Amino acid sequence: MTEKTLLMIKPDAVQRSLIGRIISRIEEKGLKIIGLKMVQLTEPSIDQLYDIHVSKSFYPILKSFINSGPVIAVAIQGNNAVKVVRKLAGITNSPDADPGTIRGDFGLDLTKNIVHASDAVDRAQYELNVFFEINELVEYELINETWIK
Ligand code: CMP
Repeated sequence: MTEKTLLMIKPDAVQRSLIGRIISRIEEKGLKIIGLKMVQLTEPSIDQLYDIHVSKSFYPILKSFINSGPVIAVAIQGNNAVKVVRKLAGITNSPDADPGTIRGDFGLDLTKNIVHASDAVDRAQYELNVFFEINELVEYELINETWIK
């Protein structure tokens, strides 16, 4: 089943010049990038993105970290894209993430955990809407697509 999902490259990864290496993992897996944007999120848009966490005790730290610099929003499409991108990211707490995953290879912290990845198809649609207008997500065929799906 082809799905769309969001990967957000967080401020720590931008500052550490990891953008290209993270995007390469998406491309190397065979997933298609259908939108790409660098943005300094506003406080209301951080609350919108993380609406399910706003009342949690860790939220002030999370919000101030996400507000600390630009992020990269990557809109991704492919078979089982939600699950596959979550697997590429690794589990939330970087020290527990397996080597070979993005967090496992690049992170050491729970808050500064390099990336955020949507956890369900409907959630992905909601989170993509935080960053992209509908007409900013591009429909196109990749030349190698039939060799991947
Ligand atoms: P992310 O996938 O962006 O989703 C919410 C983020 O909150 C999570 O990654 C972590 O970076 C951050 N966070 C901080 N503390 C916690 C916690 N105790 N449990 C879950 N997420 C946390």
